[in-house]
Amino acid sequence: MSATLIKGKPIAERIRAEVAEEVKATGHIGLVTVLVGDDPASEVYIRLKHKAALEAGFDARDVRLPAETSEDDLLAQVAVLNADQEIDAILVQLPLPGHIDEARILRAIAPAKDVDGLHPVNAGQLFLGKPTLVGATPVGVMAMLREHAIEIDGARAVVIGRSNIVGKPMAHLLMQANATVTICHSHTRDLPRHTLEADILVAAVGVPMMVSPDMVKTGGVVIDVGINRTEAGLVGDVDPGAAEVAAFMTPVPGGVGPMTIACLLQNAVRCARYRRGELAYPG
Ligand code: GUN
Repeated sequence: MSATLIKGKPIAERIRAEVAEEVKATGHIGLVTVLVGDDPASEVYIRLKHKAALEAGFDARDVRLPAETSEDDLLAQVAVLNADQEIDAILVQLPLPGHIDEARILRAIAPAKDVDGLHPVNAGQLFLGKPTLVGATPVGVMAMLREHAIEIDGARAVVIGRSNIVGKPMAHLLMQANATVTICHSHTRDLPRHTLEADILVAAVGVPMMVSPDMVKTGGVVIDVGINRTEAGLVGDVDPGAAEVAAFMTPVPGGVGPMTIACLLQNAVRCARYRRGELAYPG
């Protein structure tokens, strides 16, 4: 068997075109990204996000702060952005330098501008199964599954990774769509026993090629969220050889990556609707 590749690019392009239309129709959407320090991987992500926002016609602001910025100074910066009527959506790139309490910063972002869905109110709304801002990567994965008419209702889904940004929200979205969800992580015993049962397997760990073909259910769906920079170039969390076992699989690069950017812009549109009062913020 050779899996059908679930490519992110064409879906992402369509979403980005829809977002650009929305910007034209409404005139203005303001997205600010905040990067503290000069982590090279974060710089790449921020550059891509900023470029995409500009291409969609956003009022895209790129705030860069030195690595030694204090927690109080960053909080003050967030307060300014919360109050700025031109800003609909705020993204503080993670990880933050070690001396800054990430949770405190994320809690300070106005929940209706929290484009990553990381504020406790938004995370709580997701937990309660209410519509809210949910991180772009899990939202993008759901769009990819829907695009290929993959049946989620009743499916066994296994998510490897329990991060706040991908693993946990991913598991909640799959559960909301009536999958039976297992979350695996670094302490899981006998990981293959779980993954081999997965009709839908989502790998979001950040360990190059940790999912080998013999861990994948024949005819299953494999979503590879990993983007790992190695000497061999960009590789995912899943060995590409798994495509010989799975029925559907996302490539790396060109799979989930483009969806994350597109769905970030889509989330910013949602923030703009909250600010304009077209959509009631649920929190
Ligand atoms: N770091 C890696 N991915 C992300 C993301 O999607 N959002 C934020 N804020 N930080 C990240």
